[in-house]
Amino acid sequence: MDTLTTHPARTPSQRIRFLPLPAPALTALLAGDLAGAGALVGTALDPYFLTEQARWLWGYRLAQLAERPQDAPWLVRVAVDRADGAVVGYAGFHGAPDGAGMVEVGYSVLPAARRRGYATAILAELLRLAATEPAVETVRATVSPDNTGSLAVVRRFGFAEVGEQWDERDGLEIVFERPARDDGDDEGEGEDPAE
Ligand SMILES: CC(C)(COP(=O)(O)OP(=O)(O)OC[C@H]1O[C@@H](n2cnc3c(N)ncnc32)[C@H](O)[C@@H]1OP(=O)(O)O)[C@@H](O)C(=O)NCCC(=O)NCCS
Repeated sequence: MDTLTTHPARTPSQRIRFLPLPAPALTALLAGDLAGAGALVGTALDPYFLTEQARWLWGYRLAQLAERPQDAPWLVRVAVDRADGAVVGYAGFHGAPDGAGMVEVGYSVLPAARRRGYATAILAELLRLAATEPAVETVRATVSPDNTGSLAVVRRFGFAEVGEQWDERDGLEIVFERPARDDGDDEGEGEDPAE
């Protein structure tokens, strides 16, 4: 049975669309230029994109892009509500699939937009995208044991705990994984087409 199709959390992906966050926009954000970044993305961005945590991420992804430009299509984008175009957060994969076909998800929701199902919608959309890419076999999420909200979100999608790791920045994390698709043929047939 295809849990991506039957799971009640499948449909929320329709709520979200992603706007690219290209390297020049990351550079602008790193410099604190919210308006300049917004002009490059095509929508006004929230000051949440300038937090210390966010800026660390932009710097990290820019260095990654310099080394592995092929990761670009997988990396962080802006999440907007399809209904009104409101920016609700940022999300993406940590990179292109690794040698084992694994991609890791990351997501962050604006504080003012939390507890309204956006992380659920974002993860549903990331899973939908992962399922359409034949090279992806496994989707991973790593979550701090203290992050009640994110733990609840990943568990909604049937992620299974596969271990723990120590992250230099975030400390102890629980590692969760789930198959990219559950249809057994690994070709993504029957999935929705990518955008
Ligand atoms: C964790 C985070 C992504 C959750 O985003 P969100 O949009 O509020 O999540 P959702 O609205 O989809 O929540 C889905 C469910 O998760 C649970 N949940 C979410 N936040 C919660 C919280 N703070 N405490 C307890 N449960 C929570 C609830 O069961 C919720 O459903 P409900 O609101 O119907 O009860 C958000 O708090 C965030 O961006 N935090 C900072 C960045 C971060 O931690 N990213 C994840 C790294 S692994």
